[in-house]
Amino acid sequence: MMGADAINLLYIVSAMLFVFGLKMLSKAATARKGNLLSAVGMLLAIITALLSDNVIHWPWILVGLAAGTVIGAAAARLVAMTAMPEMVALFNGFGGVASLLVGWSEFQRMVSAGELVSTSWGSLLIIGVTVLIGGVTFTGSLVAWGKLSGTLGSKPVLYGGQRVVNGIILLIVLGALALMAFQLNLIPGLGTYSFFLILGAVSLILGILVVIPIGGGDMPVVISLLNSYSGMAACAAGFVISNNVLIVSGALVGSSGIILTNIMCKAMNRSLSNVLFSGFGAGTPAKKGAGFTGEAKPISAEDAFPILEAASNVLVVPGYGMAVAQAQHAVRELAGLLEENGAEVNFGIHPVAGRMPGHMNVLLAEANVPYEQLREMDDVNPSLDTVDVALVIGANDVVNPAARMDEGSPLYGMPVIEVDRARTVIVFKRSLNPGFAGVDNPLFFGDNTRMLFGDAKASMQALVSEFKG
Ligand code: TAP
Repeated sequence: MMGADAINLLYIVSAMLFVFGLKMLSKAATARKGNLLSAVGMLLAIITALLSDNVIHWPWILVGLAAGTVIGAAAARLVAMTAMPEMVALFNGFGGVASLLVGWSEFQRMVSAGELVSTSWGSLLIIGVTVLIGGVTFTGSLVAWGKLSGTLGSKPVLYGGQRVVNGIILLIVLGALALMAFQLNLIPGLGTYSFFLILGAVSLILGILVVIPIGGGDMPVVISLLNSYSGMAACAAGFVISNNVLIVSGALVGSSGIILTNIMCKAMNRSLSNVLFSGFGAGTPAKKGAGFTGEAKPISAEDAFPILEAASNVLVVPGYGMAVAQAQHAVRELAGLLEENGAEVNFGIHPVAGRMPGHMNVLLAEANVPYEQLREMDDVNPSLDTVDVALVIGANDVVNPAARMDEGSPLYGMPVIEVDRARTVIVFKRSLNPGFAGVDNPLFFGDNTRMLFGDAKASMQALVSEFKG
């Protein structure tokens, strides 16, 4: 067994590896190394934790390690890129249930050792909080996974008096937490252990109830929030078993999850309470914003070719439709041909383009688009007047000018990529249908806009053939 100083030193090294790893994740070019660095930090933390305890039952540890490694490695290899949010939802859920089990086992240990009566209310409270957050995270994440994977319907489940029911459940949870922590046997026949079990069971129910009223489209935000909860549960579990590295890593996950949630809400111009409580996508008729006149002007790949051939500055703005069509490789090929033709090509990436954070970055990286060409929205907007052609590939809400110009639009105030300021805009989509927000897009009717209707991949390939021909 290691001495306390050596253990703390190794824990500090692990925590530093986590922090530097996280920092490196903020840039696409260093993200892989950052991931590896954090993983090494976690391995070091696990080894240190195992060596710091002399009552380790090694066979169980090795069985757990082997099972986790096999399942994790297989899942990481087999899961499709588009299914990544679902996998993260499951990870969060398992993190939550792990914290719940840590809290439960510590409580059980106290009961078995007869220590419960002499335990302070503070210690019991922290165990209760671990179980509460862990339970909510576990079932909430399972529902989020179900909604994203299509196992459960993605529509918000709404019913009359829903908030009252959720409020009552929350009161039961808080009541059980208080009665358990202060060991108040106020209800005949129910002791501290009963309140602990009620707390655990009702927390699991609460997790389901708070996620079902949220639509599938908002699940990425919910997953990011649950990610933050799983961090908080781990942090609380760290206090329960007095493990410093668990406290630090839990706090890092908790805070980074909440920052990401905030970034996503801001980029959608919605508050967190709107995401959590509005039942967005419940089947209410889409709000169209101000009506607009004019006709969309279709264009063929053949006619789009000379416009692109003459362009010296092209901005590609991808969106959810590029992911659906899996057009990223064809887009990369066209970008290469444009560059060969002497044009400067950049990609404008909106923070919530697609359906998960970094969705477009991941797809374009898969197609080997150089990181330097990926530019953030705030970076491309100032120079949009100098862009000859903006190619909008399956993006809709994130380029909707109504967000800037139409105060009546539900999107008003959402920051968007201002492609309508480019000399020519070519939009690749199948129809004039609205995007995720259900709001019509005046961009499609602009004088400088041409609509290249069809599947984005097929249209891209047609343009590539024009260039090659
Ligand atoms: P959307 O506004 O959802 O528009 C996507 C467009 O892609 C659709 O209008 C659709 O038009 C087109 N499309 C679908 N399949 C296609 C195909 N095979 N070929 C060509 N086009 C196709 O996408 P966006 O602009 O990326 O905006 C994202 C939206 O999702 C925002 O409203 C955002 O707030 C929301 N959201 C994002 C996130 C994250 S984290 N990214 C999380 C939650 C919500 P057609 O049907 O006419 O083809």
